[in-house]
Amino acid sequence: MSKVMIVTGAAGGIGAATARLAAEQGFRVVLAGRTAAPLAALAAELDGLAVPCDVADWPQVRALVARTVAEFGRLDVVFANAGHSVSTSFRTEDGAPPEQWPGMVLTNVCGAAFTARAALPELLRANGHLVLTGSAAGRGIRPGNLYSATKWAVTGLAQNIRAECAGTGLRVSLLQPGLVDTGGIPPERAAEPKLTPADVARAVLYAVSQPPHVNVDEIILRPA
Ligand SMILES: NC(=O)c1ccc[n+]([C@@H]2O[C@H](COP(=O)([O-])OP(=O)(O)OC[C@H]3O[C@@H](n4cnc5c(N)ncnc54)[C@H](OP(=O)(O)O)[C@@H]3O)[C@@H](O)[C@H]2O)c1
Repeated sequence: MSKVMIVTGAAGGIGAATARLAAEQGFRVVLAGRTAAPLAALAAELDGLAVPCDVADWPQVRALVARTVAEFGRLDVVFANAGHSVSTSFRTEDGAPPEQWPGMVLTNVCGAAFTARAALPELLRANGHLVLTGSAAGRGIRPGNLYSATKWAVTGLAQNIRAECAGTGLRVSLLQPGLVDTGGIPPERAAEPKLTPADVARAVLYAVSQPPHVNVDEIILRPA
């Protein structure tokens, strides 16, 4: 029976590349995101299940996991990847106004936390694996950057979830990519060297394909 993986933020970028590679490697994939059409197209291509879901909304995240288990009868891996960034400054009017900050914080921090909370009971049953997309910005200083602070929160989430689940067989991996060539990068960084989404997907599948006694705690990937 194929293993089942939920990918949030699956419509494009890192999520779509990971869903593709996971399907190639034999997973049944469940694709989550807010926009139905691209999810449905990818689900058709990968013979997966598209579930429109805003990860910042707890009932929708709970329903995503329930739907997955109802459809496939199991849940083995969750890739909590949905996220977005807006430019910010704490000193000046540059970047997005503060009214736009909560959406990013809710998606990047609560979204990852809700995804973990909804999935963990099933993942614990399956000796499963939670993989979170943090960022290189979640381990370094980025002046004025609230996005970076949300990714520091994801770093903390991964460590605290792993600590809570120590000894259960559940594995928790944190992925910290540098700049990746996706729709998610700010225009001012467009000319910098970048990873491809497929580079990140390989790292996710590397973590997930280790034997059950091996936990890959963190993977930092940067463009050479
Ligand atoms: N690109 C980089 O340089 C880079 C570097 C390090 C880390 N990351 C992280 O990598 C992850 C994936 O980003 P990406 O670069 O692949 O960007 P992307 O191409 O913009 O993909 C992000 C995906 O997340 C979905 N999403 C956004 N908010 C959501 C929400 N509230 N609920 C559900 N889905 C949501 C988006 O689809 P909808 O809008 O349709 O929901 C989109 O498919 C993010 O966590 C990002 O912070 C990116």
